[in-house]
Amino acid sequence: MMDSNHLKHQVKLAADELAGKLGETYDIAVVLGSGLVNFVNKMSSERVIPYAEIPGFPVSTVQGHASKLIVGTVGHHRVLCFAGRFHSYEGYDAAEITVPVRVARALGAQTALFTNAAGGIADNLHLGDLMIIEDHLNLLTSDSPLRGLSDELFGSKFVNMYSAYDAALVCLMNSVGKARSLPIASGVYAALSGPQFETKAEIRMLKAIGADAVGMSTVPEVIVANQEGMRVGGVSVITDLATETATALSHQQVLATAQKADGFLAELLTGVIEAL
Ligand code: HPA
Repeated sequence: MMDSNHLKHQVKLAADELAGKLGETYDIAVVLGSGLVNFVNKMSSERVIPYAEIPGFPVSTVQGHASKLIVGTVGHHRVLCFAGRFHSYEGYDAAEITVPVRVARALGAQTALFTNAAGGIADNLHLGDLMIIEDHLNLLTSDSPLRGLSDELFGSKFVNMYSAYDAALVCLMNSVGKARSLPIASGVYAALSGPQFETKAEIRMLKAIGADAVGMSTVPEVIVANQEGMRVGGVSVITDLATETATALSHQQVLATAQKADGFLAELLTGVIEAL
């Protein structure tokens, strides 16, 4: 387990290296999930730093994850875009998964926009929809990114998650999505540890407890962003329908649908950032 001192050390290593390399501060962090890369094309004056060149960073092992940080501007905002994230199913602690969020905060980011690929559970969701995350169900409770923190360097570990997703950002995402005629919906995201997909009974359970979409990420990062006092927004790209009739679900299918919806996601993120 990563204790406070180790975590502080990793975050400082990465933040110092990036501050030295980039020499600027940033105000928005974007995290791109599986198969989602198009947003990077909307950024200008970008610089690319592979995670492997950032000391203190884990390296993503999942196919479809680029594993690099892209820095640049969107509108008048300076943006850190993390293309590729870390998951507990890769063997990382929740605290390790969230190092990029803490580094983004250390570099000045006060707003974090998280994206992911997810299975649609609610009846109104279609393949390729962008589900604006209004709230989440944390089913990764065996490992919190705050477990083992022994001091308040990053804020209280008793983080208030009652309004984890900023209501004004949810509103803004909805209005940008509607104005641009994007396939948007909104709902509750449930995170399971994966990497196996859900059984039929698990999908029935998820529906019964109020999940609209299911995935394997984002929740640890959202907890940490809340601890750090950041304004949080989230979007799930519905890459498959996790219904009882789902048959041929595979990681390849998830990536293929993500690729189709990726342009819409990029438009939504850009529109939201320009309006901030
Ligand atoms: N279940 C869990 N995680 C996912 C899914 C799913 O159906 N699709 C993309 N990530």
